[in-house]
Order: sequence, then structure tokens, then C-alpha cells
Amino acid sequence: MIGLFDSGIGGLTVLRAVRARFPNENLVYLGDTARLPYGSKSPETIERYLAQNIRFLIERGVKAVIVACNSASSVLVGRKDLRFPIPVYNVIEPGARRAIEVSKTQRIGVLGTRATVAGRAYDKAIQTIAPQAHVHSQACPLLVPLVEEGWENDPLTNLIVYRYLAPIVAQNVDTLIMGCTHYPVLRESFRRVVGPDVELVDSADAIAKLLDDDFQTGRLRGSPSHNKGTTELLVTDASPSFQEVAARLLAPISLEPLHQVDLIEEQKRHD
Ligand code: DGL
Repeated sequence: MIGLFDSGIGGLTVLRAVRARFPNENLVYLGDTARLPYGSKSPETIERYLAQNIRFLIERGVKAVIVACNSASSVLVGRKDLRFPIPVYNVIEPGARRAIEVSKTQRIGVLGTRATVAGRAYDKAIQTIAPQAHVHSQACPLLVPLVEEGWENDPLTNLIVYRYLAPIVAQNVDTLIMGCTHYPVLRESFRRVVGPDVELVDSADAIAKLLDDDFQTGRLRGSPSHNKGTTELLVTDASPSFQEVAARLLAPISLEPLHQVDLIEEQKRHD
């Protein structure tokens, strides 16, 4: 099994990309819906949740963990001190690498939650590889609730997107990283503001590509080609509204039942 986790159901956009590329892999997804959002929380709290979620997935026997949440991934970037017994992937480094590859001017825009932008995780990841790159970041805290409301085609959303993106467009970026699980849903709205020539980078595709490379090099062992990959969906709170949003984010893949798990009980058992 490969484990994925997110603060909620937004990471299903990452699950969808991973499932599309690896039909033979068994996937288990943990959505920490009881504690979301992560994007407005402090790095210390996010790091604590991250450690608990990773431990939970390791105890379920996964061979690797994908931190699908950008806000949670942001506390991993550049942290050599955080070590795990299995490979743990964040979505920021592959997204940053992809942006550097596709950018001609090395003027790169980043959209994310407050936590992702305040932690400067994309800036660090980009400048480690391309120190000459210019990075312009914008926190867009209103966009996650708009996507969860299903307002991706609403004129009001377009207006808010315009308001957030105008300062980035003014910096003449030629590449824009959609640095949050929910933002690929707003691709059309971003496109309307940035025009046809700006590359939009989706971290979900970038992490799926990185996994592919690791299967090729043998860093990760792939499941046998006859295996029909299963998908298990776990959440820490299973309110009916999550089911509806989850189904929308995962489409065209159909939603499996969401099973509720209690991380606090798991934590106590562990302590
Ligand atoms: N999943 C989060 C991210 O990608 C967005 C939602 C949240 O703030 O928890 O940053």
C-alpha cells in the first residue's frame, strides 16, 4: 500500500492523479477532516499533526507516504532532522522542480494557504535548485472554502481570483504553481486572469511523475502488474458534506465509502 494524507478531502486531487498513473497500486488515503484546515495553523501544530498522520499510516503497513497537503508538506521542506523509516514524499519539491523546468524566464508565482506562503517552502525548494529564480507568492485563504462550496464557475470566485492574482501578474511571472490541493479545480478561473501564455503547475501531477521515477529506479517497489489496485478512504470526521465534496473532487473516479478513524485514540494507545 501507498499511504496519502491531507488535512481533509482536497488531497483527493492528488489521489486521483496517483490512481490514474498507477492502477495496480493499493492506496490508503487519510483525510484529517476533524482538524482541518491546516492552512491557518502554526508550523508547530502542523508538524505535530504531520507526525501523527505519518505514524498512523506506517502502522497500517504502507510502503511510502505522500503528504498530499501543501500546508503539511511545507514543514518538511529543507528539514533533514525529520526522519522516517519509509520514504515520505512532500508535494512541494516536485512542484518546484516542475516549475523550474517549464519556466523560461525563471519568474515563478506561487499560490497557497497562509501556512504554505508564510513558511516560504516553495521559495526554499525553488531557490535550492535555481538560486537565480524570482519567486512571488500569494496566500489565497478564501479559495479553499469557495471550492468546497462548489463555486468554481461563479463570477464571485472569478473576482476573488482576480484580486489575488493581480499582484502576481504584475510581476510578469511566466509560471504559476497551484500550491494547494484545491486549486487545480480553479484552473479555468486562473487561466482567465493570467492569460494563455503562463504555465500552470499542478503539484499532483508532479508528485505522480516523481513516484514513477522512483518505481523505475527501484527506490520504491511496484505492485505486480496483475494487481487491481484498491482504494481505502479514511477520515477523522465523516460529516455528510465531506462525502459530497469528496465525490466532486475525485470525479470521474467513483467515491468509495469513507471510514471514520480516531487519531486521538490511536495516539493514546501509542503513548
Ligand atoms: N490541503 C490544504 C493545502 O493543500 C488546504 C486546506 C487546508 O488549509 O487545510 O494546503
